[in-house]
Order: sequence, then structure tokens, then C-alpha cells
Amino acid sequence: MKAIQLAKPGGLDRLDIVDIEAPGALASGDILVRIHASSLNFHDFAVVSGRIPTRDGRIPMSDGAGLVEAVGEGVKEFAVGDHVVSCFFPLWQDGRATIADFATTPGDGVDGYARERVVRPASWFTHSPKGYTHAEAATLTTAGLTAWRALVVDGGIKAGDSVLVLGTGGVSIFALQFAKAMGATVLATSSSDQKLERLRGLGAEQTINYRKHQDWGERILQWTGGRGVDHVIEVGGPGTLPQSITACRIGGHIAMIGVLTGLTGPVPTAALMARQQRLQGLIVGSRRHQMDLVRAIDAMQFKPVIGRTFALDELASAFRYEESGAHFGKICLEF
Ligand SMILES: NC(=O)c1ccc[n+]([C@@H]2O[C@H](COP(=O)([O-])OP(=O)(O)OC[C@H]3O[C@@H](n4cnc5c(N)ncnc54)[C@H](OP(=O)(O)O)[C@@H]3O)[C@@H](O)[C@H]2O)c1
Repeated sequence: MKAIQLAKPGGLDRLDIVDIEAPGALASGDILVRIHASSLNFHDFAVVSGRIPTRDGRIPMSDGAGLVEAVGEGVKEFAVGDHVVSCFFPLWQDGRATIADFATTPGDGVDGYARERVVRPASWFTHSPKGYTHAEAATLTTAGLTAWRALVVDGGIKAGDSVLVLGTGGVSIFALQFAKAMGATVLATSSSDQKLERLRGLGAEQTINYRKHQDWGERILQWTGGRGVDHVIEVGGPGTLPQSITACRIGGHIAMIGVLTGLTGPVPTAALMARQQRLQGLIVGSRRHQMDLVRAIDAMQFKPVIGRTFALDELASAFRYEESGAHFGKICLEF
């Protein structure tokens, strides 16, 4: 069967299309899944570009969605023909977070889903939302679940809240959509005026170009009548956090998700303290969170925004496209 393997030390020209042996017999509790789609995340890019070192021959991609082709003894949750989507932290099933690294994450510490078939314990997957294509389902593993956890699990979002989303990548567009679906107001930033228009088309009430207006935090504060937003989807890191603190209300919630501007940098601690804000770090979520997300999507009639789709053997081109920053929402692989 076809798969993609990453040769050491990584790099987009080190993604090899290979023919590997199909998975063998199923143990008790396993399922065999024909993977039909994956989606690209910044984390996958860090792995394939060699910024996050991984073992020679690693199969990349954390997100995988497809069809159950066989079930092992004792599997009750899934049947042949079910549509399933993979979990980012397969060993974090429920309860509080206990994992702070990627040792168990497919596509990083263990082999991922850039391959046609896989045998895994049933508990490494959940059902996909009803009516979703495999590509739509694949967007949930990382980006969808992160936005869900930030706003719903950690943020306790409610109708009437205001949410600031930064940029137009996968996590931010999901957060915009969840916020709108839950009756919240959305304010959004982008480096592109065309993308700002698309954000308004998705329901963002206020938008600002963060390249043209480097004091965007102050402007967002003014747009909220000086109150500030209830939640910030902070995907930028050190280069954006000071503006996010300015834009957030006293006692508001900043979901510390991304590091697009770098891994470390000065934090205006006095402002954070004075404004009594909650800066909450998070990495994706548990399998239970994903099951709750799928249930919510089934109720909300909600579809993710997929900007562009590539074939499996076009993975390097797909990452080059992500690197260019031209995308809006998710980039997917279908195979
Ligand atoms: N903690 C977690 O669980 C978790 C989960 C998923 C992702 N992440 C992290 O979140 C970040 C975003 O991930 P993603 O997969 O959504 O990325 P992505 O789809 O590649 O999105 C990147 C987008 O971010 C925007 N951006 C870039 N620099 C920016 C800046 N200085 N200020 C505001 N926006 C900026 C750009 O939007 P415009 O083109 O509109 O300017 C760009 O298109 C990454 O750092 C990723 O590692 C963390």
C-alpha cells in the first residue's frame, strides 16, 4: 500500500512516496481503517521540515479519517463501514490533561496517517460527524478540536460573548465558526484585505489588517467600547500576545495556542496581572473532548472551511502552499 515516509533530517524534499506492507492481523480491540483523508497543520509542517526532529522513516500527519474495513474481537463501538477520525492524543482518553509532549502523537512520536491503511486500537479513533466527507472529518483531529477546547471546554463560551481570532489559519477559522454558531460576536485579524472580506462573509463583525495597523489591540478595545473581548484565540505567540492582552477585557480569557511569531519573548506581565486575565495554555484535547465535538457538530449542522485539497503524493506541494500563507482555513489531502 502507498504511504509517505520522511527521511532524516527532514525537509520537504525528503518526503518519499513508498510502497509498504499492508497491516497484518487485528488483535483484540483493534480496527482496520482505510484512511481516505488527512489535513495539514503547522505542527505537521514543523515535523516534515525537520524543525521537530523525528525518527528516520516516520510516516507523517496527525490527522486521519476514513472507513472501518474490519474490527477485532471485542470491538463494540465501531462496525465495518463506519466513518472514523483519528485522535491527536490517543492515550488521553478523558479527564484532565496529563500529557505535555508529542511522544504519543501520530505523525510525530509515532507513525501518522499519510498512508492508505492502518491497524490501531479502536480507542485511537472516534466516529466522524454524520454527513461529513473524510476530508471534512480529518480537519477535526487537530485544528477543530483545539478551537473547540479553547472556546467551549476552557473558555465556557456563551451567547453574547465576544471572541477575537488572529489570522485565517485552520484553528482561527474553526474558532470563528464555533463562536458564531454559539451566538458570540467575532472580531478578526489578517494580513490580507481579501481575506478580511472573506472573514466578514463568514460573519466576523469587525476585522482589521494586522500588518497595516500594528496597534490592532487598541483598536479592538475601542470597537468593544473600551470593554475588551471575552476570549482571544492566541495563535501568534510572543509577537502578538501584548496586543492580545490589550484587546482582552479585564478578567477575560486568552487561549495560548500558537507560536507563529516565535517560541519565546517578553510578556507584559504587569498588564496581564492588572487586567486580571486568564492566560490558558492548551494542546488540542482528549478523546472525550473529540466525542463531545462530534456530537455538537451533528446538532449544529456545521461544515469546516477547506481552502484547498491535494493528493497524497502531492504532500510536499501542499506544505509549500501552507508555507506561502495563501490559504484560508484548512488544507486537506484526499486519497
Ligand atoms: N496548541 C495547540 O493545540 C495547537 C493546535 C493547532 C495549532 N496550533 C498552533 O497554532 C498556530 C496556528 O496553527 P494553524 O494550523 O491554524 O496554522 P495555519 O493554518 O498554517 O495558519 C497560519 C495563519 O496564521 C496567520 N498568521 C501568521 N502570522 C500571524 C501573525 N503574526 N498574527 C496573526 N496571524 C498570523 C496567517 O493568517 P493571514 O494569512 O490571515 O494573515 C496564516 O495564514 C501554529 O503556531 C500552530 O502550531 C496549536
